[in-house]
Amino acid sequence: AFVVTENCIKCKYTDCVAVCPVDAFHEGPNFLVINPEVCIDCDLCSAECPAQAIFQEDALPEGMEEFRKINLDLAHIWPVINAVIPAPADADEWNGVADKAQYLEI
Ligand code: SF4
Ligand code: F3S
Repeated sequence: AFVVTENCIKCKYTDCVAVCPVDAFHEGPNFLVINPEVCIDCDLCSAECPAQAIFQEDALPEGMEEFRKINLDLAHIWPVINAVIPAPADADEWNGVADKAQYLEI
């Protein structure tokens, strides 16, 4: 499965959800996750993310391993999102900021 990692936090552009053929994305307050039980590994989404936050679970950047479980756990709590919505007004300012995991809202 593919995994949404830290740089999505407070960016949440949602371009990714427009291309997912199986509605695997779930939406929280300032982050999206992929349900690994639904994702079919098509890899259509990763290239769409302006924050380059989406990776295959076996090719996660160093330090992003915890997001495998975060995606699984939050996908069971958050509702499906399958239509693009406006990004936060300050999304571009947060794109690339380090250590954003502390801002993740459940
Ligand atoms: Fe959806 Fe494909 Fe991305 Fe999985 S890899 S979340 S199936 S677009
Ligand atoms: Fe997040 Fe990138 Fe999608 S910022 S909402 S994973 S397009």
